[in-house]
Amino acid sequence: MSDKPIIIITGASSGIGEASARLFASRGYRLSLAARRFERLKSLADEIQQRGGEALPVTTDVSNLDEIHNLVEVTLDRFGQIDVLVNNAGFGRLNWLEELNPSEDIEAQVKVNVLAVVQMTRAVLPHMIARRSGHVINMASLASFIATPTYSVYAACKFAVRGFTESLRREVGVHGIKVTGIYPGAVNTEFTQHTGSKRKTGIGTPKALRMDAEHVARAVLSAVQRPRRSIILPWYMRFAILANALFPGVVDRIIEARFVKPEREL
Ligand SMILES: NC(=O)c1ccc[n+]([C@@H]2O[C@H](COP(=O)([O-])OP(=O)(O)OC[C@H]3O[C@@H](n4cnc5c(N)ncnc54)[C@H](OP(=O)(O)O)[C@@H]3O)[C@@H](O)[C@H]2O)c1
Repeated sequence: MSDKPIIIITGASSGIGEASARLFASRGYRLSLAARRFERLKSLADEIQQRGGEALPVTTDVSNLDEIHNLVEVTLDRFGQIDVLVNNAGFGRLNWLEELNPSEDIEAQVKVNVLAVVQMTRAVLPHMIARRSGHVINMASLASFIATPTYSVYAACKFAVRGFTESLRREVGVHGIKVTGIYPGAVNTEFTQHTGSKRKTGIGTPKALRMDAEHVARAVLSAVQRPRRSIILPWYMRFAILANALFPGVVDRIIEARFVKPEREL
């Protein structure tokens, strides 16, 4: 049997997950690729296989507990072990709270962005504890630190992922299991196609500050190679996090004047 490490990546059908899958495959990892769009996963797995890698596409809706358990089972059946779990699947519905649909926007976000991260991790943990080895990587966001208007539910989810990540790290370190939170700012992916956001002002992250998915994928790989508690991307955003924590009143006033009032036409 091959001794190449096994990695499960959720949300591997596009964006950061897809870029991470390609990068890990190029470094010899064997992969379980999870998402709902099987055709996308299948063509990525075929591409990886043509390049000499190994990837198993598994149709998975991470908001469904049975499908989470199926993903873990078929991965163990095929590869016999799980070395790394990347909880990456997620989406944001970015509108004023009163305009968010209670079920499709609010409940669905909490299910995918928070509960699935917890349930996926819980499903692989007994296996990692038994082996006294493993690494869980959670794709959080800069919104885990800085909550801006229209991101209320998304930020609540990503704050929760940060809390979960911090607690878990302290809980499972004694078993030889590493836990890392990744906190990216804006990334050019299909994420924006699903936000349902309607901006009158067109205010958003300037193009020059947006990262590509490969940038984040390299951070995921580097976290596995040299485990760290957290990675903030781009690195200089740690100053924005600090400013937000130290001067919340100033940040409130700037955001109200520059974003909320023009958007609400007040
Ligand atoms: N783009 C950004 O600016 C940004 C910034 C910070 C953090 N993030 C985080 O990065 C992660 C990846 O997002 P991305 O930017 O790469 O966006 P993306 O291109 O839209 O990819 C999202 C992935 O999540 C999967 N997904 C969504 N709902 C799912 C479900 N119910 N079950 C299984 N898979 C599901 C999608 O696959 P299917 O549709 O095929 O299921 C897709 O593969 C997310 O957690 C996001 O919150 C993104």
